[in-house]
Amino acid sequence: MPQNIIAANWKMNNDEYASKTLAYDFLKLLDKRNNPEVLKLLCVPFPFLSQIENMCKGNESVKIGAQNCSSFQKGAYTGEVSASMLKSLSIEYVIIGHSERRELFYEDKNTLFDKVNLAIANNITPIFCCGESLKERKVNNHLNHVLSQLKETVFNLTKNDFSKIVIAYEPIWAIGSGKTASNKDIQEMHRAIRESIKAHFGYGIANKISILYGGSVKPINAKEIFDLEDVNGGLIGGASLDSGDFFDIVNSIS
Ligand code: 13P
Repeated sequence: MPQNIIAANWKMNNDEYASKTLAYDFLKLLDKRNNPEVLKLLCVPFPFLSQIENMCKGNESVKIGAQNCSSFQKGAYTGEVSASMLKSLSIEYVIIGHSERRELFYEDKNTLFDKVNLAIANNITPIFCCGESLKERKVNNHLNHVLSQLKETVFNLTKNDFSKIVIAYEPIWAIGSGKTASNKDIQEMHRAIRESIKAHFGYGIANKISILYGGSVKPINAKEIFDLEDVNGGLIGGASLDSGDFFDIVNSIS
């Protein structure tokens, strides 16, 4: 069975104080009700990783992730943060290939593949994002587009390395827009991804990989999405910036 994961992607929001308050409030809510079987991930901005990681130490089912890492190992790359630096802070997860990184920072398949490999080499689990634009969906090319994104990157990993990753399907048009894909469309895509993994890596791995959905997940729609057969959790943007909403979303998965 894949692990159920609810990941917060705080993106570039909040200062130090607001970030600590958000984490504190969420942890306080978890003190009242916490399903230890569900992994809660807080993917926070680089400067706050260590502090938030320290705050979460008491709760085994809460882990911290970064939102990016460098495609280079180390050296003269001003402003970059390496996977090994994250490892030295005990960070266990990193989001790679978010559509905002692909679009705004021109991250291509080679860059993403290098990042994934460096994360894995440092024992950090990549949460590898894929997703289609509205244009791709309108011309009925969405399945092909998303499967190609996987084939040109993570499907080139060894079987052993591939088994270590998490996949997040985020239709670009649903991110921050208030529009979610229909449940039928979400399940269709998640099933297609799992079938494709089965064809490449076999049944055992396909049935163990967590495939998360992201894109305007809110407390009101979370349960119906997480109840879909091939959905193993969510990657939550806007709603993760409210501790109560994020807590409600976390409690929508069983
Ligand atoms: P929203 O939940 O704000 O749509 O963002 C989704 C996302 O991009 C998470 O990575």
